[in-house]
Amino acid sequence: MASKVLSTGIPHSVLPENYVRPESERPKLSEVTNCENVPIVDLGCTDKNRVIQQIGDACRNFGFFQVINHGISVESTERMLEMANEFFDLPLEEKMKYYSDDPSKTLRLSTSFNVKKETVHNWRDYLRLHCYPLDKFVHEWPSHPSSFKVQSKSDPISTSPTDTHGSKISTGTHHRYSKLFAWLMNSVNLERSFVVLPLKRSIKEVVLMPDSCSCDRDVVSKYCREARQLGFRLLEAISESLGLEGDYIEKVLGEQGQHMAVNFYPPCPEPELTYGLPGHTDPNALTILLQDQQVAGLQVLKDGKWLAVNPHPNAFVVNIGDQLQALSNGMYRSVWHRAVVNSTKSRVSVASFLCPCDNAIIGPAKALTDRSATVYRSFTYDEYYKKFWSRTLDQEHCLELFKN
Ligand code: OGA
Ligand code: NI
Repeated sequence: MASKVLSTGIPHSVLPENYVRPESERPKLSEVTNCENVPIVDLGCTDKNRVIQQIGDACRNFGFFQVINHGISVESTERMLEMANEFFDLPLEEKMKYYSDDPSKTLRLSTSFNVKKETVHNWRDYLRLHCYPLDKFVHEWPSHPSSFKVQSKSDPISTSPTDTHGSKISTGTHHRYSKLFAWLMNSVNLERSFVVLPLKRSIKEVVLMPDSCSCDRDVVSKYCREARQLGFRLLEAISESLGLEGDYIEKVLGEQGQHMAVNFYPPCPEPELTYGLPGHTDPNALTILLQDQQVAGLQVLKDGKWLAVNPHPNAFVVNIGDQLQALSNGMYRSVWHRAVVNSTKSRVSVASFLCPCDNAIIGPAKALTDRSATVYRSFTYDEYYKKFWSRTLDQEHCLELFKN
């Protein structure tokens, strides 16, 4: 394929050879049934013990659950999904500025899973961002679409010399607009309270509009902060559901990192032969997944069968990652899950990953090993994460390598 990513804007009419799974590894979509009893936890419920009980049951029996009344507004989730779609709709050259196949990059657009290691690829493009602390990473985030982030003073007004209709503005003209804009900003000291709409060729068309709320242009940071807060609430409940102190998990995980994968699964000519993401477990502690509200694609493994987890209105899918499986001495499951693709529609999802700090020492909680054997040895998250990314998704559970 000529392009490194799938989201070129040009539909794919054939599935390239290197996406075709061997017969035995195919998704067998006709055998997948809907997961009818997905645990749905109402976080708005005032009976805290009931919530903790439900979360504990879900983590033990399923390794995942959905949450509703979670405190993140519909507006915020809708805008985040819109942003995901808009990013992958950008012209290819604009997106390719962020492309890298190096997993150690803190911001990168990539494709499949680990392109350099795998032999069969997956029908997915993704933008991976580090999201904590925000002020350390936001400057490297994409400046398009323009609501992705608030442009800082040092950012160029636009890094792409195109107008809102995608036609080229000469670099010189663009530069003059940038300088003019910077001058206006400095002289009236308005900083974030004005926006330029839209950036066009003639000076008369540079319109300054009062901007009622700077968070209108801060979609992703806002969403990240909210997802983080929700994550901490869930970690506390999970801790308590294990009979541990509410802050036990948070203390063990240390200053947690936060990553985000904005996944884009284009329409695929042969969904039966490939995956968006093949079966895997998440290497981190906890994942909060915002699913496309229109297009299904997430499946989880339960009792040896793949079940579809269809989008539930205004819900997040929460799944236990490998670190919580280790910390709970295997009581809670880091669930196997995968994303399948379809032939007519693209699908987006936004996964927020809470990750232990690199030097956090992860191992089964002492209180949980009094009466049963310690299943996993202790390790640092850094050691685990490096091992995870040195492999492909098709191998055995990475935690198997850390068993006693
Ligand atoms: C992931 C993931 C599932 C989906 O990004 O780790 O499992 O439905 N995504 O996109
Ligand atoms: Ni995952």
